[in-house]
Amino acid sequence: MNLLLLSGSFHSQSKSLAILKSIENLLSGHTTETPKLDTLPFFNEDLNRNKPASIVGLMDSIEHADGIIICTPEYNHSIPAVLKNALDWASRPAFNSCLKDKPVTIITQADSPVGGARAQAHVKLIMDAILSDIHVSHEMMISPVSQVVTDGVVTDEKTLARLERHTSDFLRFIEKRR
Ligand SMILES: Cc1cc2nc3c(=O)[nH]c(=O)nc-3n(C[C@H](O)[C@H](O)[C@H](O)COP(=O)(O)O)c2cc1C
Repeated sequence: MNLLLLSGSFHSQSKSLAILKSIENLLSGHTTETPKLDTLPFFNEDLNRNKPASIVGLMDSIEHADGIIICTPEYNHSIPAVLKNALDWASRPAFNSCLKDKPVTIITQADSPVGGARAQAHVKLIMDAILSDIHVSHEMMISPVSQVVTDGVVTDEKTLARLERHTSDFLRFIEKRR
């Protein structure tokens, strides 16, 4: 399968990217891509009429993906603008975009005890608005994330096992829809 991995943060110590890297390692035999969302321009209706190459590239990757795995931190009880901006671009044309019916699973992480639960709910609401096919599963929240990621690598065995379970369940979810 071809899986697209979307991160909510892109700094050098990003725990979201570290978690997605661990998932990538679990996906041997599948292809993955982790596009850089932090270099995309802000959504603008004028630009949308003649889309920049970076946006065309992102939409093409979504179109060709069998499924999307999102991993994001919570920012001020919601999601980072960088992820929201990418989803806004890819959500057009409304209700008939490359994200429509696309299988998507959501992982949030935080140090707070609620584990990014509000960000998780917000991503779900957004993907629901876009008519994506949201993976029905136990909510995957990783907390306290600073204790499971060391030097950019997920080192906690229990978290690795949870990621393995969540990823295989998502692959089965995609298979059932084929
Ligand atoms: C602007 C900003 C807002 C944040 N707001 C929250 C929040 O509302 N709830 C929370 O649990 N953590 C919040 N955090 C902490 C991050 O979610 C947390 O450090 C996360 O693990 C960072 O993930 P990353 O390494 O992928 O960037 C915030 C961090 C920043 C920079």
